[in-house]
Amino acid sequence: MDNYPLLHHNTFGMDVYAERFLEYDSEEALLELICGGEITQPCLHIGAGSNLLFAGNYGGTILHSCIKGIEVTEEDRHTVCVRVGAGMIWDDFVAMCVKHGWYGAENLSYIPGEVGAAAVQNIGAYGVEVKDLIESVETVDLQGQKHTYYRDECKYGYRQSLFKRPEMRSVFVTRVCFRLNNEERYSLDYGTIRQELESTGEPIGLQTVRDAVIRIRRSKLPDPAVQGNAGSFFVNPIISREQFELLSAEYPSMPHYDVDASRVKIPAAWLIEQCGWKGQAMGRAAVSERQALVLVNLGGATAAEILALSDAVRRDVNARFGIQIVPEVNIIGG
Ligand code: EPU
Repeated sequence: MDNYPLLHHNTFGMDVYAERFLEYDSEEALLELICGGEITQPCLHIGAGSNLLFAGNYGGTILHSCIKGIEVTEEDRHTVCVRVGAGMIWDDFVAMCVKHGWYGAENLSYIPGEVGAAAVQNIGAYGVEVKDLIESVETVDLQGQKHTYYRDECKYGYRQSLFKRPEMRSVFVTRVCFRLNNEERYSLDYGTIRQELESTGEPIGLQTVRDAVIRIRRSKLPDPAVQGNAGSFFVNPIISREQFELLSAEYPSMPHYDVDASRVKIPAAWLIEQCGWKGQAMGRAAVSERQALVLVNLGGATAAEILALSDAVRRDVNARFGIQIVPEVNIIGG
């Protein structure tokens, strides 16, 4: 479709247009689009648009997967393998895992987006990253070739993967295979999940853990349906241990997580809050008053306003702490 409105395809609520918008519901339908020369360049494949900021109209083709469905491909007493369509809503998949008694995805409850984008972005929360659950990722490329990448080939890192690299822009994820546990096990020691569970006095179970994560996320993160946003706007920076030691002498309360012997991760939200930005607005863009890592659209903000705010926040964090924070959100065009 030509000149297609993207307002409902990006959670930041940018009122922009794409030259063309194409959807497909199977690998075959995607291959037909490719072979029929329908996918004109430039081209961008999106998921639910929950980690994007369109800096303006998109002068090319936007592709979106509607490949749904979930099938069990292998199961024994210990684990189960499921193959899931890239267009399935991520949280519907988590809900299904909980319903079937499959352990592993519950900490990733209520993260916006779709299954394919989750595998590209290596989404993570409460001590779990989606890479921990992935067995393989199935793709189709613009030459019409199908390929399966096994987890070790996906180059996963913190919010990073092979699929985010520029040279992989013409490779589209069609299905993702996950391995989940049939045996009961939880990861409750990160963040406030355990406290949240204890506060209700409910027994630990897949559904109660999911419910606790949903309650925490709802209370901490602004709802994009109410206030446009794309979740964490910045990646948590990783700094050297030397720099951390110097900073923590000056700021003893600075929260931190050890990455390895020589590197430490600092919550960008804390750095931003220390600079006084939490809840502050610039034009129609603001730093969320609930979570300093989230930039929000107060209504009708342009990408330029969001980016001006992002630049101001980055400048202040760098001036005060000597730490460069970079956007996690993919900024398209502009
Ligand atoms: N903090 C502040 N001010 C705030 C919020 C947090 O100082 O306004 C400090 C607190 O000290 C807190 C620490 O920052 O202990 C960490 O905050 P939080 O646990 O909320 O997590 P985060 O590091 O800000 C990351 C992910 C989130 C994920 C949460 C929970 C990134 C970039 N973000 O945020 O993911 O939900 O952990 O595991 O790693 C997303 O990527 O869109 C996202 C929401």
